[in-house]
Amino acid sequence: MGRVFVAGSINMDVVATADRHPRIGETVAGHAVLYFPGGKGANQAVSAAKLGAPTTLIGRLGGDAFGHELRTFLAAQGIDLSLVRETAGAHSGTAVITIANTDNTIVVIPGANALVSDDDVVAPALAKGDVAVSQFEIPLPAIEAFFRRARAAGATTILNPAPALECGADLLGLVDILILNETELGLLAKTELRDTDDPARFVEAARSLRIGKDGVVCVTLGKRGVLALVDGEPLIVPGRPVKAVDTTGAGDCFVGAVAAQLAGGHSIREALSYGNAAASLCVQRMGAAPSMPTAAEVAVVSSR
Ligand code: ATP
Ligand code: RIB
Repeated sequence: MGRVFVAGSINMDVVATADRHPRIGETVAGHAVLYFPGGKGANQAVSAAKLGAPTTLIGRLGGDAFGHELRTFLAAQGIDLSLVRETAGAHSGTAVITIANTDNTIVVIPGANALVSDDDVVAPALAKGDVAVSQFEIPLPAIEAFFRRARAAGATTILNPAPALECGADLLGLVDILILNETELGLLAKTELRDTDDPARFVEAARSLRIGKDGVVCVTLGKRGVLALVDGEPLIVPGRPVKAVDTTGAGDCFVGAVAAQLAGGHSIREALSYGNAAASLCVQRMGAAPSMPTAAEVAVVSSR
């Protein structure tokens, strides 16, 4: 089995729940304030590790109380943290999240995540069969250096370009599997997309992206499931009918599950279906990293 290497962000999510989101300038009374380990990199690493893949996380924490708490949590999930550096003088990444009616708004303050450097990401010994995963909450030049290293080693690269940011053709050209939602696809394809659009619009936009040769583009569509371009042909994995309570981290759960499956030698089609099942469990629980399912839980859902 290959190893999953995730280079990415680690945040403490400070979550406020309320009946509805405030309008600009308005104050609303909330129900609770909750603290969950999060950050796209950490969430994806937790997802892969809980689904049985040997997983290494590469990133940075501040030397603060959140940093210690996050390290303890991540170690308990069985993730190799030898490449997570503590950064004196920086605070740990923090996300301020509002949840109302399962929808969220998120403000991320990067802190130590912004200091992840090329030196951090070229440290791991990647090999053929490994999977290298990253997202846009660490500096883009570090992601490019990480993927160059992964490519040279014969590893598979997965990019989740979230949150939505423009990026250069050089980085996209290093990507084997691009996993993104409709907002991120719209930005990269320079067109406006909504999750209610006809699948043909996503296919057209996905085809316009220039990722690596034989690359797969996979668009996550919330409760509608997943639409992918595999070998240039559209593949639809329908969403599973569940009662969502908090979708924070659903995309991360999906990315980590796909990475774990590919590291385990499964095909991309199997990986997409498995990721969809895993993410349908994630949305039924509160919080980001703590809501990632185990392999045993996904096995139960997949057999239905
Ligand atoms: P986030 O940024 O909140 O993590 P995202 O926009 O990156 O989310 P989504 O497309 O909302 O990602 O969701 C990722 C995957 O999670 C979907 O493709 C689907 O498999 C699953 N999913 C999300 N919402 C639901 C839902 N309401 N019911 C069932 N599955 C869901
Ligand atoms: O994708 C969800 C994550 O985005 C949250 O855990 C939050 O930390 C933000 O980075």
